[in-house]
Amino acid sequence: MKFLITGGAGYIGSHTLIALSEAGYDFVVYDNLCNSSQESLKRVSKIINKDIEFEEGDTRDKERLQEVFAKYDINAVIHFAGLKAVGESVEQPLKYYDNNVNGTLVLLDVMQEFKCKKIVFSSSATVYGDPSSTPIEENFPVGATTNPYGTSKYMIERILEDIVISDSSFQAIILRYFNPVGAHESGTIGEDPNGIPNNLMPFISQVAVGKREFLSVFGGDYDTEDGTGVRDYIHVVDLADAHVKALNYINSNKYETKNSTFNIGTGIGCSVLDMVKAFEKASGKKVPYKIVQRRAGDIAKCFADSSLAKEVLGWSASKTIEDMCIDSWRWQSNNPDGYSQSFNFKNI
Ligand code: NAD
Ligand code: WQD
Repeated sequence: MKFLITGGAGYIGSHTLIALSEAGYDFVVYDNLCNSSQESLKRVSKIINKDIEFEEGDTRDKERLQEVFAKYDINAVIHFAGLKAVGESVEQPLKYYDNNVNGTLVLLDVMQEFKCKKIVFSSSATVYGDPSSTPIEENFPVGATTNPYGTSKYMIERILEDIVISDSSFQAIILRYFNPVGAHESGTIGEDPNGIPNNLMPFISQVAVGKREFLSVFGGDYDTEDGTGVRDYIHVVDLADAHVKALNYINSNKYETKNSTFNIGTGIGCSVLDMVKAFEKASGKKVPYKIVQRRAGDIAKCFADSSLAKEVLGWSASKTIEDMCIDSWRWQSNNPDGYSQSFNFKNI
């Protein structure tokens, strides 16, 4: 019995492979490497001290998926594969609907053909749009998304709900991640964005390591304590653990459709300037910044009520903002050019 991990070579997927291996789960990775490289899998393999089964392929390629499902006895899928750049999705919506929505439809079709009826899906807090209050609970309205990326996540959630309605033996878990950051404590795997990072943590790390001059803080006039945007940053290792807990739950007799969508966050709001201060402390480096105009589509505050995940999955976050900054810094300073640079494991 194996789990299929689509997008397993990516940032969150690669960290989840370690948690799965530690929990004794067997898996095969399926990834088209459009936003990752096999280097991440090589490094995970070193960490877990085991070879990783890897099948290169695209979720939209039905024949390739059929081959993989025919080759392995797949019990459940963790579906990370997808494109995630919000700005790019506004410019190229069809690319996002094709990759994310169509890719999921093809995957679900092949799962149905091979009678694989369990899936854990990577959704996002972005499905809540601009929430009317915080902390955000799972029953808050969803769908008023502000970009095609977010809409693709909302559409996939709806598709999964409809499949569950049509087939009561089909089990889906939707994990709505808040803001994943940090890296594995080995400093050998982490987030490796292409070009100029869109997200706060990789941008701050690149300023601290000297690759960029300063951070542009998008807006200093929000209705928050210091005027800058507040988010719920979640350590990627805690997030990885949530997938193990989700698989434990989906494979238990406790699974209930009414309890299958979970917020995965810490419940703690952190402002942009809080993060700058924490990163400076963790790295011992200065992070110069300039407050500039708000970024279009940004909201003031977003943080989770994750009590349902605690109650039902037995999951809660254990790592602090300090841990997130220390681990991001270790990854960034050991690998200033991400995975493109070879890593000497003898140094760790
Ligand atoms: P990532 O880009 O690092 O990983 C995604 C992986 O999927 C990559 O390895 C990529 O090569 C692969 N992939 C993309 N399209 C594919 C396709 N059609 N077929 C096969 N493989 C494909 O991203 P991540 O940060 O690890 O995110 C994983 C998932 O979590 C994504 O679905 C993303 O939307 C979701 N998510 C991410 C965040 C975040 O801030 N990182 C927040 C919420 C949700
Ligand atoms: C965080 C805060 C910015 C960069 C995005 C997606 C969301 C999810 C997670 C996938 C905000 C501020 C940022 C910078 C800044 N991804 N900021 N200067 O926007 O909360 O969420 O990633 O599902 O869908 O929208 O994350 O890291 O971009 O921004 O001031 O250079 O940092 O304004 O307040 P965001 P982020």
